Amino acid sequence: MQQLRSTSVLVVHLLLIHFSTGQSKLIGSSQPIMATVGDDIILPCQLEPAVDVAAMTLEWSRSDLIPRFVFVWRVGLDLVSIKHPSYRGRTSLLSDELKHGNMSLKLSKVKPADEGTYRCYIPVLNEASFVELVVG
Ligand SMILES: *[C@@H]1O[C@H](CO)[C@@H](O)[C@H](O)[C@H]1NC(C)=O
Repeated sequence: MQQLRSTSVLVVHLLLIHFSTGQSKLIGSSQPIMATVGDDIILPCQLEPAVDVAAMTLEWSRSDLIPRFVFVWRVGLDLVSIKHPSYRGRTSLLSDELKHGNMSLKLSKVKPADEGTYRCYIPVLNEASFVELVVG
């Protein structure tokens, strides 16, 4: 009985350690990002605590678009073929930042139609965050 009790205490401890070290969280921006037409901007999205994400699949999307992808990074490549046509040639990641868990999106030559809510997502971690872009 005593032994069973210490076993369950151990299990609870292991669970607590598991959940408190937990996994990293994606942090977007609680404030909207403001831009004017023609700007080159960064939409922030950072994994905290930082983990190298260069080898992970990384997605940026807008749920109001078909296809919804603004940028997809898979096996170290920009998957241009599934990107929404309006973003082709205008979105990229900052490759030096990926090892620091920074998957911020660079968007160039902002258009009025870029206004909206962007979602950054890491499927293998099932972590997502949102950034709102306002074009004034
Ligand atoms: C992520 O990278 C962008 C572009 O280099 C930079 O502006 C931003 O400060 C970085 N974010 C963090 C949390 O380091």
